[in-house]
Amino acid sequence: MPPHPNIALPRLIAHRGLSAHAPENTLTAVRAAFDIGCHWVELDVQLLGDGTPVIWHDPTLKRCSDGHGRLSRLSMDEARGLDVGSWFGDAFRGERMATLADMLELLASLDMGVNLELKVGRNRSGTELADTVVPRLLETLPPERIILSSFDLAALHHARSMADASRLPIGILTESITQTWQSRCKALDAFSVHTDWTRLTARRAREIKDAGYRLLCYTPNDPTAFARHWRWGVDSAISDDPACFAGIAPPPDLVDS
Ligand code: G3P
Ligand code: MG
Repeated sequence: MPPHPNIALPRLIAHRGLSAHAPENTLTAVRAAFDIGCHWVELDVQLLGDGTPVIWHDPTLKRCSDGHGRLSRLSMDEARGLDVGSWFGDAFRGERMATLADMLELLASLDMGVNLELKVGRNRSGTELADTVVPRLLETLPPERIILSSFDLAALHHARSMADASRLPIGILTESITQTWQSRCKALDAFSVHTDWTRLTARRAREIKDAGYRLLCYTPNDPTAFARHWRWGVDSAISDDPACFAGIAPPPDLVDS
């Protein structure tokens, strides 16, 4: 089994960029994370109808843009005409939907790390998404600054068929840790398990850590409630508002433990 890259995973990862303070999944949200010293971000990637990979969470446009309808019906030309910032605040008016290419260029220029989530919508192909995303990801960022994750196991298996564990760290996303977690990790030669922090138990956390996997939790925004999870061995919290953990998260000298 090839070794995993030596990832200096930070305690705090900005969820969809600094999404508590900027429109989620935008270039501005990633710059905002960088500006507060948060150098890893979680981002969602999907395909437009014309096959262009873009950084976007929802299957539809309504919540986070001035448009309507399904992302899967949109072309890049149409996407360029959307305002994806003013829904969040006037200060963000004119923000444009980020393509994967735009975003990777920014992440590379800032030496940032990314947990890129393959967001596979209903009736969409996870393998097509992986086929499009993985080569671009690998040619832009070093393995030490990548975790590719998904709830969609078919997408992850396809990604794994394209690059081994030394080149492509893979994280399994799961709402709760079921009994089959370890066989799923082994089959994928996974680097990490990413789970809903409110459903994690101390016992499952210990199992995952004892088996040698990194353990990440989404999406805690209450550092006091989350405090016991650090004691359980959680490596990183994927938070909308990492700054709210200041002084409460474990100190940086524990980052690579
Ligand atoms: O990757 C962690 C988290 O982002 C998964 O849920 O819906 O926020 O993409 P969601
Ligand atoms: Mg996500």
